[in-house]
Amino acid sequence: MILITGGAGFIGSALALERAAAGERVRVLDDFSTGRRDRVAGNPLIEVREGDIRDPAAVREALAGVTRVAHLAALASVPRAELDPEAAARVNVEGTLAVLEGARRAGVSALVYASSCSVYGDAGKRPIPETAPLQPRSVYAVTKLAGERHVLLHHRTGGPPAVALRFFNVFGPGQPAASPYSGVLARFSAQALAGERPEIHGDGGQTRDFVFVTDVVDALVLGLEGAGGEPGGHVFNVGTGRSASVREIWRLVADAAGAALTPTFGPVRAGDMRHAAADVRRAARLLGFRARVPLREGISRLLRSTAGNPADASPVGDV
Ligand SMILES: NC(=O)c1ccc[n+]([C@@H]2O[C@H](COP(=O)([O-])OP(=O)(O)OC[C@H]3O[C@@H](n4cnc5c(N)ncnc54)[C@H](O)[C@@H]3O)[C@@H](O)[C@H]2O)c1
Repeated sequence: MILITGGAGFIGSALALERAAAGERVRVLDDFSTGRRDRVAGNPLIEVREGDIRDPAAVREALAGVTRVAHLAALASVPRAELDPEAAARVNVEGTLAVLEGARRAGVSALVYASSCSVYGDAGKRPIPETAPLQPRSVYAVTKLAGERHVLLHHRTGGPPAVALRFFNVFGPGQPAASPYSGVLARFSAQALAGERPEIHGDGGQTRDFVFVTDVVDALVLGLEGAGGEPGGHVFNVGTGRSASVREIWRLVADAAGAALTPTFGPVRAGDMRHAAADVRRAARLLGFRARVPLREGISRLLRSTAGNPADASPVGDV
């Protein structure tokens, strides 16, 4: 059985559904702070437990009978972490330590950790290799890096065989759009469908490597398979290797939605990176990972799902 912490979240629930579809039993541990029970409800192979990763007893109980762990639970929002750095540290660092300690005691055979490209800060280099200097520029990035370091340290010191995956900008169906903290593509798709002009932070020339959620799920599965072997103890970028500017992606979304709206431009957001594209060679070589969903196809899948899910698509107003 696989334990997915944060399994009711955007990425965690996609992994839970994929694992169940592959016939694996899944246990989800989630406090539902941002996750939603309905994403994983009603599947006979998925057991959902409400609990906090900072609670060692809850983690221990959730690990009973578990052989593999995907650790995705986190305070996963850059602006929220900026507002409450202590909460971010408690969940992303202390929570990760509790999961690692539990996994060590349970003797699990593989653990994969959801890290973030934000650990690079403004790397200067494009695409960014895993060996680039780490200069986190936000509270969120510092806590994700601390979690990653703990995962790799545990791996080296007799803890669970593990890999850490540095996700670039993940997007896809199920990512909530109705909050100022939402991912940019989720917000854009909701706004394009609602006929609302988006506000872009800065000049929109900042670039991101947008990777579709099913590709990230593939990387998580490959990470779990690799954790006990040669890839174990390594970090891997998970992206497409290509980047697009925020202005470009608004154009793609607006065109696909048939919305003739021009964006407005607001101040640059504190801690934002200017450019990000993943160097994906290490993940290809050691994990056999390659992103498969092209940006345009991902955007049209996202728009279709946003149009069909009014709960995700309510207009967002103040982004
Ligand atoms: N979405 C992205 O673009 C992206 C990029 C890089 C890294 N990540 C990482 O991927 C992971 C998943 O992100 P997501 O986008 O699905 O975010 P999300 O907010 O949808 O998922 C996080 C989940 O963790 C749960 N959670 C939070 N605190 C918890 C706690 N104390 N105990 C138990 N559960 C708790 C939430 O309820 C939620 O279900 C996170 O670790 C995030 O840092 C995401």
